[in-house]
Amino acid sequence: MKKNFYLTTPIYYPSDNLHIGHTYCTVASDCIKRFKELEGYNVFFTTGSDEHGQKIATKASEAGMEPKEYVDKIVANIKKLWEMLDIKYDAFIRSTDPRHEKDVQDIFQKLYDKGDIYKGEYEGYYCTPCESFWTEAQLNENHTCPDCGRPTQLTKEESYFFRLSKYKDRLLDLLQNNDEFTEPAFRKNELIRNFIESDEGLEDLSVSRSSLDWGVRVPFDEKHVIYVWIDALICYLSAIGYGDDKEKFESFWPADVHLVGKEIFRFHALIWPALLMALDLPLPKKIFGHGWILFDNDKMSKSKGNVIYPEPIIKLYGVDALKYFLLREFSFGSDGSFSKEKFMQRLNSDLANDLGNLLSRTVAMAIKYNEGIIEDKGVKDGPDDDLKDLALSVKGKVEEAMEHFRFNVCLEEIWKLIRRSNKYVDETEPWILAKDESKKNRLNTVLYNLSESLRIISILINPFIANTSKEIRRQLGLEEEISWEDAKVWGLIKKAKVNKGEVIFPRLDIKKEILRLDEENAKLMEERAISKKAEEKEEKNAKAFKDEIALDDFNKLDIRLALVESVEDHPNADRLYLLNLKIGNTKRQIVSNIKDKYTKEELTGKKILVLCNLKAHKFRGIESQGMLLACEDEDGKLSIASTLADIKDGAIIS
Ligand code: ME8
Ligand code: MG
Repeated sequence: MKKNFYLTTPIYYPSDNLHIGHTYCTVASDCIKRFKELEGYNVFFTTGSDEHGQKIATKASEAGMEPKEYVDKIVANIKKLWEMLDIKYDAFIRSTDPRHEKDVQDIFQKLYDKGDIYKGEYEGYYCTPCESFWTEAQLNENHTCPDCGRPTQLTKEESYFFRLSKYKDRLLDLLQNNDEFTEPAFRKNELIRNFIESDEGLEDLSVSRSSLDWGVRVPFDEKHVIYVWIDALICYLSAIGYGDDKEKFESFWPADVHLVGKEIFRFHALIWPALLMALDLPLPKKIFGHGWILFDNDKMSKSKGNVIYPEPIIKLYGVDALKYFLLREFSFGSDGSFSKEKFMQRLNSDLANDLGNLLSRTVAMAIKYNEGIIEDKGVKDGPDDDLKDLALSVKGKVEEAMEHFRFNVCLEEIWKLIRRSNKYVDETEPWILAKDESKKNRLNTVLYNLSESLRIISILINPFIANTSKEIRRQLGLEEEISWEDAKVWGLIKKAKVNKGEVIFPRLDIKKEILRLDEENAKLMEERAISKKAEEKEEKNAKAFKDEIALDDFNKLDIRLALVESVEDHPNADRLYLLNLKIGNTKRQIVSNIKDKYTKEELTGKKILVLCNLKAHKFRGIESQGMLLACEDEDGKLSIASTLADIKDGAIIS
């Protein structure tokens, strides 16, 4: 029977769209999932969204929306992103799922009944971006949050507390004596120093808020919602059926590893095990606290605005380029700096020059010199054994490095084989062998060895860059199905016929590409800003009637019927149309974001209502001389406003 393996990412706050930093942890988890599956494990991989709490409530109210409506849109984008990146998660848990909420309430009740939760009053500081409680002594000198450096709020409210202090000795023992439990090792020392052995020691934790509505209710006290971190951590249990699928739950719990960023390591290595101890549940085997991707030496962060989004990178360079860069450039346990130059350089040197080149020259030579046939003719020579020995040694090295999630080391080892193979081409000089009919069999063996090496490479890179793995196998004429064990066997290809293919990673002109990427990023940000504005406006319309106005105010609006003569795509924005209008005897152009709702044909020839005296505004470089009127219902169905009877364009609304 297959052994089970349970792996999780944090559940992300859908306070804003996700950036490269969040993508990092998810891509790493996806790689582990694929690797463990290849090793023969039955892997369950959970990710999701952390939708309750102050931070989301505040964000939603700023947008004039209900919290659930607000997060729905972002969660849809998150799921789209994971689909784009081909992330093989097994459960996407939303903390607003009723099934999860029930588990949270049941657990809270259980801990209360047991006496591990009691009522008191909280007085201290709260950091909303981190959803974190602090004592005055823990704050920075200027009363900012010691984790993120942002302002905190002094809070005093009735609250339930969890007896964290009761578990102090067991936690200390766990951290000090179980080296497997935390990784990298240095993180636990920091934790012990700052949170267990500090002056304040380990205090009981406030686990409910009475000043906030947006959360899971405390089952026995309507006035309180459960602290968002308690709610969030429990997702690791509810995702595998804690309350409703005992068999599944027991087959996957305890988790093999929770991957988390270093700033939330504390919640996972202290509070989480204490909660589990209180519930008498086994503890996760490992909490891995990865480093941050920095941008200009600062943490890339939704609330700091120094964000690189993954979508433009994927659009321009593909999923594998992004995954490769994230896993190769950084050492998972430490911080690293993101730069577009570094990204492009990696693409050029590792993917285009090393791997891409090895594949294209192998395939091209097979076609040119041997009608595409790969077959060993047994004429061995100098460097053959060296290549073979190296090829067979990589699998073990990858396995060893994967034990500690050293993705960069794995890829480094694989790339040694790729470079060795390119060197093998230079050493054996197939183009010279090809000139001499008597060396035909040797030529065959050389091409064969290169293909064997590439076959092994296609297996080894599979957990990291699966699309490329597949494409290599397609070009070599091998079947798609792979087995991890085959990476340690030489000579598996019997006879193959290569297929000519596209260059897998074209070389980039770095300066030009950086400009292109910047443009693509700007375009995405602007499109998101435009559609967000439009959404917010619609939301406001739906809520309540606006304040009363005088007839004079209405008369200021110049609304006329316009004929849509033609419709064009906006040259710089994927979601926008340019509408060419005839309004009586004048012509006008307006920009509108209705492209996902109407085709050009549906609009052309129609008469629509347009606000004509709205101050002109440029959208991505093109002026809009007015605004069309439209309405949208709750279901998102949109209709442009027109008149009941077909009357002449230019007619004025009054
Ligand atoms: O903390 N580099 O959610 P979150 C690397 N909801 N990792 C980064 C990063 C960066 N620049 N920016 C963010 C939460 N991350 C909670 C989790 S789990 C029960 C609840 C990582 O959206 C960050 O380190 O603020 C964290 O692990 C994850 O993204 C989620 O961050
Ligand atoms: Mg965060």
